[in-house]
Amino acid sequence: MKKLKVGIVGAGNIAQNAHLPAYAKLKDRIEVAAIADINLDRAKEAAEKYGIPQVFSNVDELLAGCDVDYIDICTWNSAHAPVAIAAAKAKKDILCEKPMADSLENALAMQKAVEENGVKFMMAVVTRYSTEAQTAHEMQKAGAFGDIYFARTAYTRRRGTPLGWFTDTALSGGGPVIDIGVHCIDRTWFLMGRPKPVSVSASTSYAIGNYQTKGVTRWCSLDKDTQVNFNTEDSAVALVRFENGAVMVAEISWAQNAPAESYVRLYGSKAGAAFDPLTVYGENEAGYLSDSTVTCGGDGEDIFYNEILYFADCLCGEKEILSPVEDGVSVQKILDGIYRSAAEGKEVTL
Ligand SMILES: NC(=O)c1ccc[n+]([C@@H]2O[C@H](COP(=O)([O-])OP(=O)(O)OC[C@H]3O[C@@H](n4cnc5c(N)ncnc54)[C@H](O)[C@@H]3O)[C@@H](O)[C@H]2O)c1
Repeated sequence: MKKLKVGIVGAGNIAQNAHLPAYAKLKDRIEVAAIADINLDRAKEAAEKYGIPQVFSNVDELLAGCDVDYIDICTWNSAHAPVAIAAAKAKKDILCEKPMADSLENALAMQKAVEENGVKFMMAVVTRYSTEAQTAHEMQKAGAFGDIYFARTAYTRRRGTPLGWFTDTALSGGGPVIDIGVHCIDRTWFLMGRPKPVSVSASTSYAIGNYQTKGVTRWCSLDKDTQVNFNTEDSAVALVRFENGAVMVAEISWAQNAPAESYVRLYGSKAGAAFDPLTVYGENEAGYLSDSTVTCGGDGEDIFYNEILYFADCLCGEKEILSPVEDGVSVQKILDGIYRSAAEGKEVTL
């Protein structure tokens, strides 16, 4: 099988602490040939730590100076579109961290560049790549749940606002909706069978803001000490309607005065499902209510490894892309709808 060469753009936290450790485990399948960051010293540090031969300060230099098969986008959100468009124009395949972009407009521009240049594109929506999610997806396709008419999901933190560019909409495109809402909405929508979203009713809140709570830990951009604007929401609730009549309710927060929660629940005509562990709620053959746990996955699974290996298999023609560019756009439409609905104070069509 062909050994692939990747160029990583963005040498920050997710690159150094999730993607590069996964690439190290996959060194027989993928060579990290180059890394680029507008902070050249950071790119050099990462290159030294992981033995990456070439270092650049931006995607254009990388594309000109190193022959890679694909670009792995690990920059902050506002750089996803320009980097992806440059890669697509250079006919390179693309793996792109979530969220797809900082705005729907930029996500659509990325889709256009990908389609016009005929390159492969996979959204790095890592929570689809757990064995549990893959198992539930197989079960959904096989009809185990019947028609999924409703889903509930939450990804809420009590105090977990990331430090750095995340709170500056000019760099992030939004707050928890676009940062972690994307995880739970994407995963739930995927497991519902990807129905077409048609409308959203949502509200966002700015009740807690730039708190000084002691004793809490947070995700940190490697630029965490840089002073940035703090103009993002701190929580949101949304109801999404789909063309097939199904509905999803999502609750999302970086900061709230309530317990933290993280769940996906599917409600099907034949059975329902919940996760961690994957549990199916239905009736047994004798007609009684029955809850059954599905044996799959395991502790300590590296879902970034799963995701990157999956993409390598797609590039080698062994698998079909499971989180394609159209999925990125559909989820971005939902995120955009949440912000529009909250701003307009009414349900909006997508
Ligand atoms: N999948 C997950 O669970 C997960 C978790 C955290 C972050 N992320 C995503 O990963 C991305 C990066 O987040 P992070 O926490 O690593 O942030 P970070 O700030 O630590 O790293 C981002 C890096 O991108 C660099 N950069 C910005 N614009 C660039 C450009 N045009 N060209 C080259 N480099 C550029 C910055 O200098 C910085 O080093 C974000 O999109 C974020 O949403 C995903």
